[in-house]
Amino acid sequence: MATLSIHAVSKIFAGDTAAVDAVSLEIADGELVCLLGPSGSGKSTLLRMVGGFEQPTAGSIAIDGQDVTRLPPEQRPTGMVFQSHALWSHMNVFNNLAFGLKLRRRPKGEIRDRVEAVLDLVGLKGYDRRMTHELSGGQQQRVALARSLILEPKILLLDEPFASLDQHLRERLREEVRDIQLRLKITTLFVTHGQDEALSMADRIVVMRNGRTEQTDRPEVVYRNPLTPFVAGFIGTMNFIEGRVETGRFRHADFAVDLPVADGPVTLAVRPEALDLVPADGVRQATVNRVTDFGTHGLVDLSLSDGTRIKSLVRRPEPFHPGQGVGLKPRAFAAFRDTVKLYGAIDAEPADQH
Ligand SMILES: Nc1ncnc2c1ncn2[C@@H]1O[C@H](COP(=O)(O)OP(=O)(O)OP(=O)(O)O)[C@@H](O)[C@H]1O
Ligand SMILES: [Mg+2]
Repeated sequence: MATLSIHAVSKIFAGDTAAVDAVSLEIADGELVCLLGPSGSGKSTLLRMVGGFEQPTAGSIAIDGQDVTRLPPEQRPTGMVFQSHALWSHMNVFNNLAFGLKLRRRPKGEIRDRVEAVLDLVGLKGYDRRMTHELSGGQQQRVALARSLILEPKILLLDEPFASLDQHLRERLREEVRDIQLRLKITTLFVTHGQDEALSMADRIVVMRNGRTEQTDRPEVVYRNPLTPFVAGFIGTMNFIEGRVETGRFRHADFAVDLPVADGPVTLAVRPEALDLVPADGVRQATVNRVTDFGTHGLVDLSLSDGTRIKSLVRRPEPFHPGQGVGLKPRAFAAFRDTVKLYGAIDAEPADQH
């Protein structure tokens, strides 16, 4: 049972710009929150400050209402798993896991029981006598996870723990970690720059950019209702079409659509699955470049006359072929002017769930 409060936390490394810039975040008991953002956006720095491995330049961090900002890592109720599994290679699995408990002078019987229980939890029952170099990468990451869980931290911190693993294993492990996290109801902060990982695991996603939080919301809200063009383009595939609004209608050289916002330049953001293709009807709005058949659906790659490349997700790819002219019918879209959202039709969330 633990909550995590990050209040206006900044980190400035030696005279440089802020790696983390006044970030505030409240994480509820048992919640799994993903920090998602491009390389260098400050995800690891923020996580390391929660774990006590970096000191904030400003701001405060509290766990269960207790200020931990100045505490060293070993005095914080946090457990951290790093990207590169930092297991002790001269010890077997048992000793890697028992180490922290031995330091805490727990009785032998208890240590044995807890090692056994945690190995069972991460799916490595019976591996206690293995040396760490006799384990696969995925098994090593499971041991690293077990090593932080065995100390029963209130907050689990994970910094891209699967980054070095292949896609297949990564998908399996993230499901396992989510299962374990839900079973233990452990409050978790998880760093990733994989949007799939964030969308599939998180209760909420924090999209970071240049040390700041760009949007904090549940995955489906971040996907359906991005607040900035950056979030819109970073999560999932998004088509951006530049144009102008004149008297309630968005106009691009090739097509137009009703858009009830003030006149001026506008960027239209349309998901491939919300962009229908219709017969050209004499007016070619876009030209098909390529059609990819994914079995469950097709993806049509198109060009507008000004060179803008866009994508449309179609149920059946057969009717489309390269060189073909088509009409465009966006079913739902958002509209931005600079970084300001002017319009967004796709908010599938009932208001009472916030
Ligand atoms: N110890 C340090 N000294 C100086 N600058 C640092 C240090 N650690 C991180 N930075 C800088 O802070 C910024 C944020 O780095 P951080 O590691 O938090 O990014 P990240 O979002 O985790 O990126 P990645 O996805 O590549 O891991 C970067 O510009 C980085 O160069
Ligand atoms: Mg990082």
